Amino acid sequence: MSNKTRSADGGGPLAIILIGASGDLALKKVIPALFALYSRQLLPDRFQIIGYARSALSDEAFREHMMAHLTCRYAPGDQCDARIREFLEHCVYIAGQYDSADALRRIQPALASLGPTDAVNRIFYMAIPPFLFMDVARALADAGLVTHKDDPGWSRVVIEKPFGRDRASSDELTRNMARVFAEDQTYRIDHYLGKEVIQNLLVLRFANLIFDPIWNRAHVEHVKISWMEDFGLEGRAGYFDDYGIIRDVMQNHLLQILALVAMEQPVSLEAGYVRDEKVKALRCVQPATLEDLVVGQYTAGSLRSARRPGYREEEGVPPDSITPTYAAAALRIRNRRWDGVPFLVRAGKGLNARMTEIRIRFRPVPGNIFQHAAGHLANNELLIRVQPDAAIAFRIVNKAPGLTIALEESDLDLQYASAFPVQIPDAYECLLLDVIEGDRSLFIRADELAAAWDIFTPALHELESHRIQPRPYPFGGTGPDAAQALAARYGATW
Ligand code: BG6
Repeated sequence: MSNKTRSADGGGPLAIILIGASGDLALKKVIPALFALYSRQLLPDRFQIIGYARSALSDEAFREHMMAHLTCRYAPGDQCDARIREFLEHCVYIAGQYDSADALRRIQPALASLGPTDAVNRIFYMAIPPFLFMDVARALADAGLVTHKDDPGWSRVVIEKPFGRDRASSDELTRNMARVFAEDQTYRIDHYLGKEVIQNLLVLRFANLIFDPIWNRAHVEHVKISWMEDFGLEGRAGYFDDYGIIRDVMQNHLLQILALVAMEQPVSLEAGYVRDEKVKALRCVQPATLEDLVVGQYTAGSLRSARRPGYREEEGVPPDSITPTYAAAALRIRNRRWDGVPFLVRAGKGLNARMTEIRIRFRPVPGNIFQHAAGHLANNELLIRVQPDAAIAFRIVNKAPGLTIALEESDLDLQYASAFPVQIPDAYECLLLDVIEGDRSLFIRADELAAAWDIFTPALHELESHRIQPRPYPFGGTGPDAAQALAARYGATW
């Protein structure tokens, strides 16, 4: 986020200790992103990737697992194999229990291979479930692997949600982790912040003149942040059924987007300032109430002619599960800029499309002299589509060419695919490079995490303590009718 000039840091040797190296997150996201950085010569000259997990694997077997997930997005075809081979030479694997300092000490020789060990910078990437974070952190400290303040080499830890289940458990995790890693060593990932269009939000808002004057309650009627997936659990029942869509997507990805839309301009792009403004915006969001929240769960249905099972029929889901796979909420931000403007957020799995977008709908033109012709036309709307087809479009009212004054809606349309014919980096590439460079602006600070939990914790407790049944909706549809009714109360549709 800061004024970055990306370049390889030929200087400090770097060890990336990937805990949980044989799991999906490591193999599908982290390692391909590291390979992409390597291919673009953005890793330091001296680096090692040290995979650590419980499975007994040789270096060779680990490299083979890795190879299956590497693609040459940035290396020309004829150099691809050579690039992969060189990269794999930097990768070793060590097997051990997550809470074993003795096993973790076996990482030392790999560190020593990079130079005097206290000068080796290290990233501990915890690609493991959060209940293991503390065991690992303690064992890393006991094994003497975390460098100290005065050592020439730095240590950083990367962790990923879920950070607890509510405000209290999240605070506890934060407190415990702080015993080993200080806040400025902690990089809490929300991978949505690494997505290209999300990073563009601040640029769009603050590097253009035209948006800020109308970015407020006087001109905005409502804001919609919508997240949909057209698939279900994909084998993640164990995790998902415990957490549900509000904790999985809304409390983090969608609130981060909301914060970037709603926040004030930061003093500068320095990480502290950006996060200060996000925290301020989140603290002004009133806790979601059950009156303004709809939860749903998909039942059997069909999508593109294929029958799909209901959530409760998915393997690993208890038949009486009340875990929401869909949620829609109307949130209110009580501050000078946004008071009275509903922020409608929704997230759902098992819907009819995969899509994430933000829509900012403006108020009608006051005293519109085209009232007679424009009455049936929609208001101006700014669309920011994050995925699948990244785009920014502004809906305007226009004269339809011809001899009469007939009005119609058209879009000023910026499609990323045609406007920017470049390889758009994956979110993890960008975020990992930030970790290496020590830029924390795209990572979640502890107070930001707490403020985000405060928005959904009371509603989550009520839903769970009263065992509120989610509303059924068929797989492959648009979600429960009650969510449409909620949006309609605020003059919107999903
Ligand atoms: C993860 C959620 O954070 O984001 C998943 O746990 C979800 O449930 C995923 O599928 C979506 O990420 P993306 O980048 O594919 O939109």
